[in-house]
Amino acid sequence: MILANTNHTQSPHLPFGDQRTSPWYGKSIISVKQFNRHDLRYIFEVAHEMREMVERVGTFDLLKGKILANLFYEPSTRTASSFTAAMERLGGSVIPINEVKYSSVSKGESLPDTVRSLECYSDVLVLRHPEIGASALAAKYAKKPILNGGDGAGEHPTQALLDLFTIIEEHGQPDGLTITMLGDLKHGRTVHSLSRLLSLYDVRLNYVSPDILRMPSEIIQEIEEKGIPQNEYTGLEEALSETDVLYVTRVQKERFADPEAYEKVKGAYVITPETMQSAKSDMILMHPLPRVGEISMELDDDPRAAYFRQMEYGMYVRMALLAMVLGKA
Ligand code: ASP
Ligand code: CP
Repeated sequence: MILANTNHTQSPHLPFGDQRTSPWYGKSIISVKQFNRHDLRYIFEVAHEMREMVERVGTFDLLKGKILANLFYEPSTRTASSFTAAMERLGGSVIPINEVKYSSVSKGESLPDTVRSLECYSDVLVLRHPEIGASALAAKYAKKPILNGGDGAGEHPTQALLDLFTIIEEHGQPDGLTITMLGDLKHGRTVHSLSRLLSLYDVRLNYVSPDILRMPSEIIQEIEEKGIPQNEYTGLEEALSETDVLYVTRVQKERFADPEAYEKVKGAYVITPETMQSAKSDMILMHPLPRVGEISMELDDDPRAAYFRQMEYGMYVRMALLAMVLGKA
């Protein structure tokens, strides 16, 4: 069985083993549209087991001998390092291409060629790229699974999975909750993925943004078709008191063609201790990070501030995803 080289007897409940017939074996994860509620329950069950194993033994050999290529065309702290930590905690190893300018991309190599090169040396790839659709394109050419680590202003599916896992860990099932997303909803790929994923549940969604950064109408339409109530605001005041989860995002400077337009909206919202006085006592405050002034550091010790816990949950979810696509969960 797996879990060799640990000093622990394997629990009969662990959903681990050689599962090459599992529906996720060899699959790419490009969009949250690939998931239904059954899949989510399964992923989170595996993520729970991963957390338990990390707490018990730290590192174990589920993916011993497997190699992840981490291919990042855009900066990252959390996605790159949590996938690295996830792979290493599972006994695997990582080829880090965190700065494509030192790779042959700077000589003009195309994405399909880069991906087809890296898959010769690895079993799974994580790709972050500035263009919408880049992961789908890579998956078209690759034989190994591609995990979308953010494609421009498109999607960030593994982030949405960890965001949903955070909501469930902190609040229980999302049914009945009101989730308010605030900030740059136009360019923010995390909110594009999270709103779609939440539409699988019986939730209410509020969107708070400056007029020029509203949630794209095609996403609103898609969610509307699922019968989910959605409201748009330019100020947080009206939505805050009914909010169970406040999901704050950064204005995505790198997606603005006009720097002046960015300057006008960059400080649109700042969550402070005063803001939190009007929030529910059990509301949770989330942020995919990095924050650049949208949440005051004075809030970091408020028990409702979930953004650091959110990052840790991310590693367990990514461990689960790696095990699934490599046929070990
Ligand atoms: N880190 C997240 C992303 O890459 C959010 C952000 O950068 O604002 O989409
Ligand atoms: N949340 C997130 O994707 O963070 P990074 O951009 O640091 O990877």
